[in-house]
Amino acid sequence: MTSKVIVITGASSGIGAALAKQLAARGDKVVLAARREAELKAAAKECGGDAMAVVTDVTRRSDVERLRDSAIQKFGHIDVWVNNAGRGIGRQVLDLTNDDVDQMLAVNFKSALYGMQAIVPHFKECKSGHVINVSSALGRIPFASYRSIYSASKAALNSLTANLRMDLRAEYPGIYVSVVMPPVVKTDFAKNALYGTPGGSYSAANAQTAEQVAAAIVDLIDHPRAELYTNPGQAEMVARYYADVQAFEENMARR
Ligand SMILES: NC(=O)c1ccc[n+]([C@@H]2O[C@H](COP(=O)([O-])OP(=O)(O)OC[C@H]3O[C@@H](n4cnc5c(N)ncnc54)[C@H](OP(=O)(O)O)[C@@H]3O)[C@@H](O)[C@H]2O)c1
Repeated sequence: MTSKVIVITGASSGIGAALAKQLAARGDKVVLAARREAELKAAAKECGGDAMAVVTDVTRRSDVERLRDSAIQKFGHIDVWVNNAGRGIGRQVLDLTNDDVDQMLAVNFKSALYGMQAIVPHFKECKSGHVINVSSALGRIPFASYRSIYSASKAALNSLTANLRMDLRAEYPGIYVSVVMPPVVKTDFAKNALYGTPGGSYSAANAQTAEQVAAAIVDLIDHPRAELYTNPGQAEMVARYYADVQAFEENMARR
């Protein structure tokens, strides 16, 4: 398999760092982006080789464009762009402030829009490329009400991803656009969520590791497709949800 140049946001920890490591281990060139410089550099060092760290705040469009330019300057082009940076929240709908909403949309939704708008013109020039947006199972089934605007921001991301894919399909069949919807993943996500997470952390039976999710994304890079549920049980859950939303919610409430 030919080595690819792959940019990953949110790569200082969790899924992004695990993904960078797995890709670098098989010979891909990785560009890691996040805000915390020390953690980001440590994650890049673990990748070895010519892995590159670019301190980036994805809520700033100019930072995202600088990330693209730095990667192209070093490696000449980009093959895959992974919008993975994100943050949760632990607050229900009626308690949300304007600032909560703005923060969640900025980091989970607008960040990926900036990424797509930065990279797709380059992919058009190359007539190939792959945008991967890391969403969440909650973007499809909003079953954790304390995640409220986080789930809504990921649902919006799912929608935007589908529309970009439709826009490119006819004229640019070599550009792929995918959305990834992991379930609960054992990372610092629960701890890092704005206002934390009720109960502190997860104990979900279907929780995956960052490495498992990263391996599923590696496979997506090799076999591009529109959507990826990283946990095999999810498709059946989604079918059950959309078959009868009320029954699904009542069943959740009884647990
Ligand atoms: N863990 C889960 O249960 C779960 C489930 C479904 C989906 N996801 C999604 O998976 C993705 C990765 O999350 P994770 O589980 O790996 O959590 P994590 O360990 O908390 O990682 C989040 C990453 O995003 C980065 N980030 C946050 N705000 C940023 C900003 N403004 N600019 C640049 N980078 C920023 C963080 O780095 P810095 O703080 O250094 O900037 C960190 O590298 C997220 O999109 C999340 O929504 C997670």
